[in-house]
Amino acid sequence: MGANFSAIAYLIAGVFFIMALRGLSSPVTARRGNYFGIAGMVIAIVTTVLNPQILGFDLIILGLGIGAVIGTVIALRIQMTAMPQLVAAFHSLVGLAAVLVAAAAFYAPESYGIGISGQVKTASLIELSLGAVIGAITFSGSIVAFAKLQGLVTGNPLVFPGQHWLNLLIGIVIVTIGVVFVAQESVPLFWVLVGLSFVIGFLIILPIGGADMPVVVSMLNSYSGWAAAGVGFTLENTALIITGALVGSSGAILSYIMCRAMNRSFISVILGGFGGDAGAGPAAAGRGDKSAKAGSAEDAAFIMKNAGSVIIVPGYGMAVAQAQHAVREMADRLKEEGVNVRYAVHPVAGRMPGHMNVLLAEANVPYDEVFELDEINSDFSTVDVAFVIGANDVTNPAAKTDPQSPIFGMPILDVENARTVLFVKRSLSPGYAGVDNEVFYRDNTMMLFGDAKKMVEGVIKAL
Ligand code: TAP
Repeated sequence: MGANFSAIAYLIAGVFFIMALRGLSSPVTARRGNYFGIAGMVIAIVTTVLNPQILGFDLIILGLGIGAVIGTVIALRIQMTAMPQLVAAFHSLVGLAAVLVAAAAFYAPESYGIGISGQVKTASLIELSLGAVIGAITFSGSIVAFAKLQGLVTGNPLVFPGQHWLNLLIGIVIVTIGVVFVAQESVPLFWVLVGLSFVIGFLIILPIGGADMPVVVSMLNSYSGWAAAGVGFTLENTALIITGALVGSSGAILSYIMCRAMNRSFISVILGGFGGDAGAGPAAAGRGDKSAKAGSAEDAAFIMKNAGSVIIVPGYGMAVAQAQHAVREMADRLKEEGVNVRYAVHPVAGRMPGHMNVLLAEANVPYDEVFELDEINSDFSTVDVAFVIGANDVTNPAAKTDPQSPIFGMPILDVENARTVLFVKRSLSPGYAGVDNEVFYRDNTMMLFGDAKKMVEGVIKAL
């Protein structure tokens, strides 16, 4: 009876999780999706806690309490722009948990009903070694991703000759040791497996630099899901298997979408080390003798007020300055003047998938004014003004013209085709990928130097 109840409750939780993912696929339904996710998680936790096999609640309550406090404090304090590194940090915990559960099951198989010490079921050994390997890769890979996104380690690709071969060799050794481990059930081999997986996790993520980090975050998201699913098999917990598989496959789909957005191959991402060939770093941000034309908020207001159409291109700087509400207000004023205003959102603008969509939704920008790259890119050649606010890499033509550039091949928003390009940023500094943007120096570009929010407020005032 207890087992049946759990199975049904877990199934219901799984359905809620699927509805959560469905809801999260569009900004209009995202909030509802989140509620489904919360409901599913409450059902899963309550069902687990009600399991008759649980002998004492002290540690569970303590764990839930500590986790809830830490989670609440972090959620309240985290800046939206620091979300990717927070997600990476959380992924590392999922990975570590998978390794620890696998180790616990291996050391105390009786408690998990998978055999007795020295005679663990073969299927269970396969499951727990897979969980430990994927978990360890997720753990160390996520730590590197966290350090890169937080700026603790350089965002440039860290490459050395023979890297791919070394990764391949370690991969083959891991598979071989895994097979021997399952056959022999050897304690030292378990830890060699875990150790090598930690190493390969570091090696896979280290070479990935700058603009390719979005793919890494979604890839680690997928890995963490598969690690959780592996743990689910070891614990014979259907909720964990379903949730892990959902996270794993949705992360893989997101990685695929990100790869398409970045024009990278999915296979090379999964294998790692696609940040550049040995020796290739980000192109230097050299300015030489080029000069950029600077304007004021009043100039921008004058140009846009007299324009027939404006496309706003938001980027990371808008998020830093929290300028989205001011941008919406500016757009409203322009619309009152009869200007056609639309927004162009690049798939990797900002620092996390959907970052700009979330900010624009928060500022109540109507969804039908927001367009994706494919939908709007050809319109730049007919628009009067491209108003680029805190975006940089996603507009950089080096992605099309410079094969040496780390962003080469990435589709960009063709803002330079607009009659006038207004660029709001604080300086001529490059963006996340560290590549100088030649659009700054074009004849049809006017730089609006300053904090994004203050500049837009200045434009509103002038309007
Ligand atoms: P970036 O290329 O990073 O450029 C943002 C620009 O905003 C900077 O050049 C900066 O110039 C400006 N800025 C910063 N603070 C500002 C402020 N307070 N006011 C005005 N401007 C400010 O951003 P992007 O065009 O959105 O491209 C995103 C990049 O991040 C891509 O390379 C992408 O691959 C990478 N990335 C994306 C993700 C996801 S999933 N979206 C995750 C990780 C990395 P100044 O310093 O001169 O002001």
